[in-house]
Amino acid sequence: MRKKMVAANWKMNLLQADALHFLEAISKSHLIDFSALDAVIFPPSIYLEKMISRSPQGVQIGAQNFYFENNGPFTGEICLEQLKSINCSCVLIGHSERRIVFSETPQMISEKLNAAVKNGFNCILCIGESQSVRESGDHLLFLHAQLEESIGQLDENVIRNLSLAYEPVWAIGTGLTANLEQINEVHNFIRSYLLKHFPTIGSSLRILYGGSCNEQNAKEIFSCPNVDGGLIGGASLDCSKFLEIIRAAHEVSGIEH
Ligand code: PGA
Repeated sequence: MRKKMVAANWKMNLLQADALHFLEAISKSHLIDFSALDAVIFPPSIYLEKMISRSPQGVQIGAQNFYFENNGPFTGEICLEQLKSINCSCVLIGHSERRIVFSETPQMISEKLNAAVKNGFNCILCIGESQSVRESGDHLLFLHAQLEESIGQLDENVIRNLSLAYEPVWAIGTGLTANLEQINEVHNFIRSYLLKHFPTIGSSLRILYGGSCNEQNAKEIFSCPNVDGGLIGGASLDCSKFLEIIRAAHEVSGIEH
């Protein structure tokens, strides 16, 4: 059975004191059995080292961004070796804000993913269609193309630590959540793709949902058969909401409180 994963994408939010306070509150929350699920927090990168050194067992701290080259004249960027040097071993790749606001191309995303998996990082790769693609009815074709260009050429052996996140762009930060029918359709589609292309491990890779997932809707979303957790933006900035979402993942996994 796939362990659920709940990941917090803080984006460019929270000051350092808030971030550390959040982590402390999580550490003290004895209601959560962090061995029963994987929790990840993606803070702004300047907090990574401090948060990594203070994170409780079972809570990974990951980088929202990095560049795929090993070193060199790339002002403002961080490479994987630098992340490794502060014990960071988890990265987020392909988020729609990186694709849209920072013009990351499919080629760059594929290079980033290649570099990260080959360096043994745990990766969450985001895919998702825009509102106009959804309205055209071609969302599955679009998502298929995103899968092909990012993981289509990768070998099964290197993607064991990969999780996918389906994040419809129209649902991110909008308060509009995809409905269960839409979520099931896409997650089942992604699962079939994984099973077909990676027959040995396709059933064990996690597929997260992201896009206005919160403490109120998490339980029903996480109950869908191919939803293995969530990538949470807005609701993850509030520690009590984030813990509620983790609790929902616990409940769906059959863990009592
Ligand atoms: P949201 O963001 O939960 O605020 O919609 C999700 C994400 O961008 O990963």
